[in-house]
Amino acid sequence: MKITGCFIPQSIGHPGILPEFFEALAGLDLIVLNFAPMTTLNTHYQKLKAGYLFPEIARRVREFSVQNPNAKIIRLGIGDVVLPLPLSTRNAMKKAVDEMGEPTSFRGYGPEQGYDFLREAIAKHDFASRGVTIHPDEIFVSDGSKCDSGNIQEIFDIGSKIAVTDPVYPVYVDTNVMAGRTGEVSASGHYEGIIYMPSTAENNFTPALPKEKADLIYLCSPNNPTGTVMTHEDLKRWVRYAKENDSIILFDAAYHAFITNPSLPHSIYEVEGARDVAIEFRSFSKNAGFTGIRCAFTVVPKELMAKNKSGEKFGVHALWNRRHCTKFNGVSYPVQRAAEAVYSAEGKKEVDEMIRYYLNNARIIREGLASTGLKVYGGVDAPYVWVKTPQNMGSWEFFDMLLKEAHVVGTPGAGFGPSGEGYFRLSSFGFRENIEEAIQRIKSRLGTPAR
Ligand code: MLT
Repeated sequence: MKITGCFIPQSIGHPGILPEFFEALAGLDLIVLNFAPMTTLNTHYQKLKAGYLFPEIARRVREFSVQNPNAKIIRLGIGDVVLPLPLSTRNAMKKAVDEMGEPTSFRGYGPEQGYDFLREAIAKHDFASRGVTIHPDEIFVSDGSKCDSGNIQEIFDIGSKIAVTDPVYPVYVDTNVMAGRTGEVSASGHYEGIIYMPSTAENNFTPALPKEKADLIYLCSPNNPTGTVMTHEDLKRWVRYAKENDSIILFDAAYHAFITNPSLPHSIYEVEGARDVAIEFRSFSKNAGFTGIRCAFTVVPKELMAKNKSGEKFGVHALWNRRHCTKFNGVSYPVQRAAEAVYSAEGKKEVDEMIRYYLNNARIIREGLASTGLKVYGGVDAPYVWVKTPQNMGSWEFFDMLLKEAHVVGTPGAGFGPSGEGYFRLSSFGFRENIEEAIQRIKSRLGTPAR
């Protein structure tokens, strides 16, 4: 008797569709078939709502442009910079590239945490200059704050309760969903297991402290998307909460360079006690125009502790260092030299000019929209302008209307969380003439309010 046995990968489909498979079996008396189980996905990914916000916007804009090839679309959606790199950073990068071309100054792998020259410059110019002590070895240089603020949750227990403001930068939520720290999303758009802290015009964009204990609290100031900035008093309240509840604050200060009001804090460490409870994320993307260059850093103070399941305390710094060294090989040398140049006298001047340019754009957006009768928030110490949609229009409805009727792209507030519904974000990262034209078009579409 002729017998054969074989594994059939499920991916090829049912064998009945493969005639050659049956030909090969002709003449056999007994056939044992075994279907190999297909590899299982991380099913938490299936809980995610549609696509990531910005690719979804890009998809809609692409679809519209294909149908309307002559439309001159102005993009004020994703917060991507447009001004070219400061000369000081370009010169530093070129010099570093030349060094890499000489046997005596060539460098291979650098320190995973970043070169001392950059970590020291950051400690001095970003922190010591504001009376804050951050040691260079508490700074971890990386390729982006999006990555850092998304990756940080990995070093905390899967059972950690997270709290986010609502609306919120979607990365904080999505990375926790991917990790399996949440349940399913409800019809209202909230993920089960996350503490949402509504941040709306009704509470002056100052969310109340959670009533239950949160283990990890994501805060962003100047805020993406609302453009509001936390005061010293706001930060003190959070540091106190974190101390009382043994929580850790994940403070995203990627937009700190847009703060011009001298009474507002740039860093959470300007508040006493924050070193014990907070991690801070910073980036060169929005101040120095590095969105395409990639350089950022995360500050993890040595005092910051977390407990294991048996209640023993461990330094978070050591854990993040372990994670960083395992998964990251450092930012390239030329890019770190470019980042260092941001702190030179010339670099500071160039960055200041770029920030002023974008803040002026933000003012034009704010004033233009306000003149149509819309309620406008943010955009003073932040690059984002947050606007209430007219006549309680849905965020995506307003998005579609502006795209189709004014050929202007913004970001629907609902994309940042359920409490963002009924709001819309416009980014000031654009060329002046485009900002002016976009506002003119929106004004002609919306008209001026009846007096
Ligand atoms: C935004 O538009 O919210 C930002 O560009 C997102 C980011 O920096 O990743």
